[in-house]
Amino acid sequence: MIPSTLLGTANIPNNGGELRLTQCGDDFSIHLKGVRGELMNSRKHCSELALAELGCAHIQGMENAKVLVGGLGMGFTLAAALKATSKSSQVVVAELVPEVIEWNKGPLGECAGRPLDDDRVQIHLGDVAELFIMRQATYNAVLLDVDNGPEGFTQADNNDLYSIESLQAIRDTLHPGGVLAIWSAWFDPKFIQQLKKAGYKVKDKIVRAHKGKGSRHTIYLARKIREVSKEE
Ligand SMILES: C[S@@+](CC[C@H](N)C(=O)[O-])C[C@H]1O[C@@H](n2cnc3c(N)ncnc32)[C@H](O)[C@@H]1O
Repeated sequence: MIPSTLLGTANIPNNGGELRLTQCGDDFSIHLKGVRGELMNSRKHCSELALAELGCAHIQGMENAKVLVGGLGMGFTLAAALKATSKSSQVVVAELVPEVIEWNKGPLGECAGRPLDDDRVQIHLGDVAELFIMRQATYNAVLLDVDNGPEGFTQADNNDLYSIESLQAIRDTLHPGGVLAIWSAWFDPKFIQQLKKAGYKVKDKIVRAHKGKGSRHTIYLARKIREVSKEE
């Protein structure tokens, strides 16, 4: 068995615990210290690519599209968003943990083909939720993969992201027809209802973790269907 090497550790803001980057052969893993589990493994990344492919399908070929990816992880979703959008597009990637950005500038960046080097990328170092506060129509697509599903995992504060209020704030940051796509390790019919209540038309898609096999993951695809008044 190939031993696993610890390449780096990072404290997650808001008492989220410790994030660890390890390498085992050619595979990298980002996980939470202790029993909390794995956030991302480079070997299984097909559903992370699918998040961007499905979430950006409606803006294929669109000039000057703007996409928000939260968070960076190993950069697979970011790389797929860049591939799915035109040369004039801009992709903002929000990442809570500074070390994750540094890891992606090092050997980890090779996994997804160094997407941070693309001129179309703008990094937001901080909580992705900060970008929804202004509630101004800015993005054509918002691709969220910050936890293992629609509940706080990386940090407890992330729970708020999936509340009706936050989902409505995200909807306000989308242009009409824009899509919020959320990655999840499980399917939750209650979350579909939550998205509908927040003013989206919702579909879900089951995708496999590893080239047509492996775990089944869910991508929630929520399209903004109407403008919201500030009083709502
Ligand atoms: C599961 S990984 C993302 C995997 C990514 N889709 C990929 O293709 O590699 C989750 C990432 O989101 C970051 N994160 C967690 N909560 C966040 C938040 N509230 N705002 C921004 N980034 C966050 C984590 O530090 C981690 O890098």
